[in-house]
Order: sequence, then structure tokens, then C-alpha cells
Amino acid sequence: MQISIYPGYDELSKAAAAVVAEVVKAKPNAVIGLATGSSPLGLYAELARLHKEEGLDFSKAASFNLDEYVGLPPEHEQSYRRFMNENLFDHINIDKKNTHVPSGTAKDYKKHCAEYEEQIRKAGGIDVQVLGIGSDGHVGFNEPGTSLGSRTHVTTLTEQTIDDNARFFEKKEDVPKFACTMGVGTVLDARKCVMVVNGKKKAKIVREAFEGPITCVCTASALQMHPDTAVFLDEEAASGLAMLDYYRWIQQNSANAPK
Ligand code: F6R
Repeated sequence: MQISIYPGYDELSKAAAAVVAEVVKAKPNAVIGLATGSSPLGLYAELARLHKEEGLDFSKAASFNLDEYVGLPPEHEQSYRRFMNENLFDHINIDKKNTHVPSGTAKDYKKHCAEYEEQIRKAGGIDVQVLGIGSDGHVGFNEPGTSLGSRTHVTTLTEQTIDDNARFFEKKEDVPKFACTMGVGTVLDARKCVMVVNGKKKAKIVREAFEGPITCVCTASALQMHPDTAVFLDEEAASGLAMLDYYRWIQQNSANAPK
């Protein structure tokens, strides 16, 4: 794992976007895994800027989102399909036919989840997966107790996640209780993972995920087993880390590290 600390949200977002942009430049038909929520908004704004101002080309790229609320149709204000259109897809030249978000209205979720996995496999697997972390340690919507080998499935959101996400809905009761999410195993199959985290309220869970035991109680901790994960933190999110000085030392010396 590579843990990097930046002065603020803008800086960490730009640094994380640069990693995604490198993947797309090296492989124009890259398969990008995407997350929703507040954390990646800066990263998406930077990808949109790189497209507009520097010609970063997504015309051959494909994408797969981590998750969707069960019960929300694509046009719903809070659906993750709509979030992705508004915050990224409408601002870059990706072909929407090549963008995938799990369904919020599948008739048969077992079948839908198996098909989602198959679509990822047929696309050649995910080259780079963008991730955030929930305050209960979830990655995707893999809540505490989810198998670290899980594949795409329907999950029951924790009260903590419902509380956290109530800010996007008129009232807490409107937050769906179920979501369809890639599994932890699906995430771990990505060739590269890029996690973005900011803010003081994530400091404790960042420490648990990256310096604590690997446990299904904090599914993001499974990333410790991933061979190519980069974690982009602001000072506040990094503030609970015991090895903070060492991570800074690595970051300072990274330009001179042997290739
Ligand atoms: C979103 C997702 C979640 C979020 C997490 C953090 O697609 O899978 O794991 O990344 O809940 O959300 P924010 O960024 O809003 O704090």
C-alpha cells in the first residue's frame, strides 16, 4: 500500500486523478471502477478538467460503478446512475453505452449480480478502481460482517451508513435500506485501487483500515492484501495514523526510489 498525505482536498483529488489519467493514457480502452459519495467529487472534477483542457480521451474507456441503492430507478435524484451522469459522464467523452451501474430495480437480483460480475469479466477486468471509505469501514457497500471474498450481492445498509447518507435525502426514512454492491473480492480483483479520503471524521476508520487487523468488521482493511493500492489522504483524515511520519518520509523520497 502506498499512503500519501496532502495538505487538503484539492491536492489529494488532483494527485488521485493523475493516477487514473495515467491508466487511461497508457490504455485508452481501460476499464475504470467508480465510486459515488462526496469523496471522489474532486477527482471527477479534475478528470473533467483534464478532458476539457488537456484532451484526456475516454472515448474507448468503459466503467463499472461499485454500487446502487435498491429501489431507486436511474432517473431518481439520488440514484448513483444519476450521480455519475451529473458528476462525471456528462463532462467527459465516455460513451454512456460503456458505463455500467448496478440496477436499483432488478427483478431478480441473484441473476443481476451474476451478470454484473460476468460483464466485468468480459470487459477484461477493472484496470483501476476508485474507492472511498464509509465511516463504518465499508468499501463499496460491503458493510461490517461481509465476507472478504464476496462478489456482487445485495446488502443491508447499517444504521450508521443510513445516518451518514441521510444528508442527501429529504428525510432519513427516505434512505433505502438495501443496496446492490460489488463484493470485496470483486474490488480486490481490480489491478489497481485508488482510495480518496478527507476530513477529520474519517481519521479513526482510516487508522483501523490501514493499520489495524484485516477483518470483515472493517471491509476496507482487505485492501491491505491488494498488491497495488494507493490511498490519498488529507491531513485531517491522516491525523490518526501511528506511522504518519514514515508515510511522509516515503512520500518525500519517492522520486529517488529505485524503479
Ligand atoms: C460509494 C461507495 C461508498 C462510499 C463511502 C464514502 O459508491 O461505495 O463506499 O465511498 O460511503 O462516502 P462519502 O465519500 O460520501 O463519505
